[in-house]
Amino acid sequence: MSHPDLFGGLPLSEPAKVARTTQSLPPAESAAQFRATLHHHAHAYYTLDAPEIPDAEYDRLFRELQALESAHPELLTPDSPTQRVGGPILDAFAQVTHRVPMLSIRTETDTEASGAEAFDTRIRKELALTEADPAVAYVGELKFDGLAMSLRYENRVLVQAATRGDGETGEEVTANIRTIGQIPLRLPIGAPAVLEVRGEVYMRRDDFEALNARQRERIAAGTKGEKTFVNPRNAAAGAVRQLDSGIAAERPLSFFAYGLGDITPVTEGGPQWTTHYDMLQQLKAWGFPVAEQTACVQGAQGLVAFHQRIAAERDALPYDIDGVVYKVNELALQARLGFVTREPRWAVAHKYPAQEEMTTVLAIDVQVGRTGKLTPVAKLAPVFVGGVTVTNATLHNELEARRKDVRVGDTVIVRRAGDVIPEVVSVVLERRPPDAPQFTMVSHCPVCGSLAEREDGEADHRCTGGLFCSAQRKQAIWHFAHRRAMDVDGLGDKLVDQLVDSGQVKTLADLYHLKLDSLANMDRMAEKSAVNLLEALEKSKQTTLGRFLFSLGIRHVGEATAKELARHFGQLDAVMAASEDALLQVPDVGPVVAHSIRTFFDQPHNREVVQALRDAGITWAEGDALAPTEMPLAGITVVLTGTLQSMGRDEAKEKLEALGAKVAGSVSKKTHYVVAGAEAGSKLDKAQALGVPVLDDVGLAVLLAGEKP
Ligand code: IVH
Repeated sequence: MSHPDLFGGLPLSEPAKVARTTQSLPPAESAAQFRATLHHHAHAYYTLDAPEIPDAEYDRLFRELQALESAHPELLTPDSPTQRVGGPILDAFAQVTHRVPMLSIRTETDTEASGAEAFDTRIRKELALTEADPAVAYVGELKFDGLAMSLRYENRVLVQAATRGDGETGEEVTANIRTIGQIPLRLPIGAPAVLEVRGEVYMRRDDFEALNARQRERIAAGTKGEKTFVNPRNAAAGAVRQLDSGIAAERPLSFFAYGLGDITPVTEGGPQWTTHYDMLQQLKAWGFPVAEQTACVQGAQGLVAFHQRIAAERDALPYDIDGVVYKVNELALQARLGFVTREPRWAVAHKYPAQEEMTTVLAIDVQVGRTGKLTPVAKLAPVFVGGVTVTNATLHNELEARRKDVRVGDTVIVRRAGDVIPEVVSVVLERRPPDAPQFTMVSHCPVCGSLAEREDGEADHRCTGGLFCSAQRKQAIWHFAHRRAMDVDGLGDKLVDQLVDSGQVKTLADLYHLKLDSLANMDRMAEKSAVNLLEALEKSKQTTLGRFLFSLGIRHVGEATAKELARHFGQLDAVMAASEDALLQVPDVGPVVAHSIRTFFDQPHNREVVQALRDAGITWAEGDALAPTEMPLAGITVVLTGTLQSMGRDEAKEKLEALGAKVAGSVSKKTHYVVAGAEAGSKLDKAQALGVPVLDDVGLAVLLAGEKP
């Protein structure tokens, strides 16, 4: 992609040739050519995301221009790409009076769809429109969570960048803003003599994470005065307000344009626009990043749909937004609507529920998981964040808790984005009470008092109590009863708590000795439910070896591994007796899993549990050990997609697996067949792209007959 006339008619294509031929040109022309070439490639790289030359080539051109400018300082121009790396250190920022004030926008705090409808209603009223009048045209934009910036171009060169300040007067931060690769330092021919572009400087989330990781390293290395940043906005603001633009240059910032300030009339024959949307398109053509989500929409319905569409996309965006902005599209209508105090009547910000909020840590509890994992959990003063009330946030393990240094009494920032579990982002150190104690991991299990241990090379502490620990026992029972394990219908969390707490169930086998009268006597347990539970337990006794192995809750043995073990060994005694080497022969079983299985069956109490369950009447059809290679579909990987006619996907999966096939969830080069039913989607596309054979119901039938189509 090249823009031959974008940067003042200078040759822009074939940069290497330009660089070579410049040697014979007078220095001034040579510098101008270097600058034009570098501008072109910076635009392709930062704004279009479509670099045309390798980074090393860009660096080489850049260094040549730097050398030329230091040999001829009089050739240095403010729009030179070499100015992006930062200038001298300032004592203070100069004040800038905005020729056109930087306004703010009214915020619609109602985060529901009604917020958008209220704005449309207001606009229609102000414009004295009746029901008979057509829908008002709006532009939907993202509300970026950064800081507002005004970029002033004179004679097409960036001469000044200023913060919003109080709207009338801001601070001059030009040297720092020049370091932002996405911001053009020079505009193409045709741009007005004076142009102020308004927009948002922000930091992408991945850039923010990388910056904080680097800051942590610096702090660990003992560098004085370094700190981590609370969120991308805070990091962006810190970078913009750096007096040393060399430091600002190390902090990766980005920019989106969304409006105009001061502008001289666009010359005759030059670009013209009568709508906000067309103005944004013009800014884009001049090289400014404009968010691709920006859209023209009609009336309240269009606004509501835009709000919902962006809400669904929000978590996938690489940067934070805190809402959307609606603007009346026709500039003539904007002029008619005018302003109230400092806010235009023609625009509104429509927020989403915040994803980050501040709250306090009331306690740090340690919870015990099914396999004994001890997890520190911050108990929080209830806070509404990401659309739900949050009272807990996991601190994962001791190392994480220490790294974040969360303490009881601390004020913390909690983040909840999408369906992700809430987490503590950081501590507001300024608000820490003086006596807040550092978190230390418990030495004993808070539930059963057994020793808590951390194995070498592992981050997690574990309770060593095993099924002696009631917390582990409860979770072992939930797991045992799970639909995909022993499938005991009606054995919910609350009931398990009661059964364990009342001492009726100490081991898994006790479940099968429960009596109707003691069950029916329990809290909130109707006789009918008690009867149903006993029936479900009775029914669960007839199972498969794979389900039984899965239900034991052996660490690292998931459903698929349990099935493989059953298929490989055929009999429970063979699994229990298998050496680690023998276990390693099972598909997908590696050293960690093999060791875990061996350790489990080496423990006498686990063998007792197994025996007690067998004594209670649990049975399955035992088969002969079947080397997987003897099975007709051994070594074949199949992916199922779409709606099959002959059977459900679960049934097809079970039948294929019984013949030794592996049924995978996603298509890769290793997939042997994709079985596609009606309305198959992306998996079918991927199969076709990779050249994986695609089968229909007939092909599936051939496979299930044990043949390879
Ligand atoms: S328009 C005349 N559009 O939100 C209207 N502002 O108070 C001027 N913001 O500080 C602002 N995204 O930094 C506008 N698409 C967008 C925006 C946006 C974020 C910020 C802006 C300003 C605040 C509004």
